[in-house]
Amino acid sequence: MARLDSMLLPLLLAAVGSLTCHAAPAEDQVMILPGLKQQPAFKHYSGYLKAGGDRHLHYWLVESSKADPTKAPLVLWFNGGPGCSSLEGLLRENGPFRVNDMAWLEMNPYAWNRDANVLYIEAPAGVGFSYSESNVTKTNDTQVAEDNYLALKSFLEKFPSTRAERCTSPARATVASTCLLWPPGS
Ligand SMILES: *[C@@H]1O[C@H](CO)[C@@H](O)[C@H](O)[C@H]1NC(C)=O
Ligand SMILES: *[C@@H]1O[C@H](CO)[C@@H](O)[C@H](O)[C@H]1NC(C)=O
Repeated sequence: MARLDSMLLPLLLAAVGSLTCHAAPAEDQVMILPGLKQQPAFKHYSGYLKAGGDRHLHYWLVESSKADPTKAPLVLWFNGGPGCSSLEGLLRENGPFRVNDMAWLEMNPYAWNRDANVLYIEAPAGVGFSYSESNVTKTNDTQVAEDNYLALKSFLEKFPSTRAERCTSPARATVASTCLLWPPGS
């Protein structure tokens, strides 16, 4: 019995490990994005991340189109502002989709998600689809920093595959951002 257990345990752990590594919230997966002629081959997800208090931040994750998403690094993108929607980055700058003159969507051949999984978060609450249940959106840098941190933690819980310590092929996180705090004279 002891021998059987010692053989079964690693197998069970391997099974659980691979489940957690590939879990992604099916309810957040975007199956059809209106305005595109053809749906993309990569997966993308949109939904909410829990921030502080009663605040919820909207996110859109686009998986890598060329690299293996389970091995690709994770890039976190915030448009600055303060208060500029990160969908600006997704739909007009480095994201996979571009809005054309006819207000239809086209694919962007130079999108960053060729090589990385890119996470766009709309922050702070009150920007874009991000909200506070009580509609209180007055904020400051301290609260914004904490909300972004909590939202990232909430993301890592939703997408355990991006948690380096749980996977054999760790994801790296880099932060790409415009200025959240404008230096004097800019
Ligand atoms: C917040 O705003 C929404 C939209 O205007 C409204 O439906 C909702 O009742 C408001 N909630 C509170 C708690 O004021
Ligand atoms: C930032 O806002 C929070 C929530 O309103 C408040 O508790 C905190 O004192 C504020 N901090 C600063 C430095 O203004």
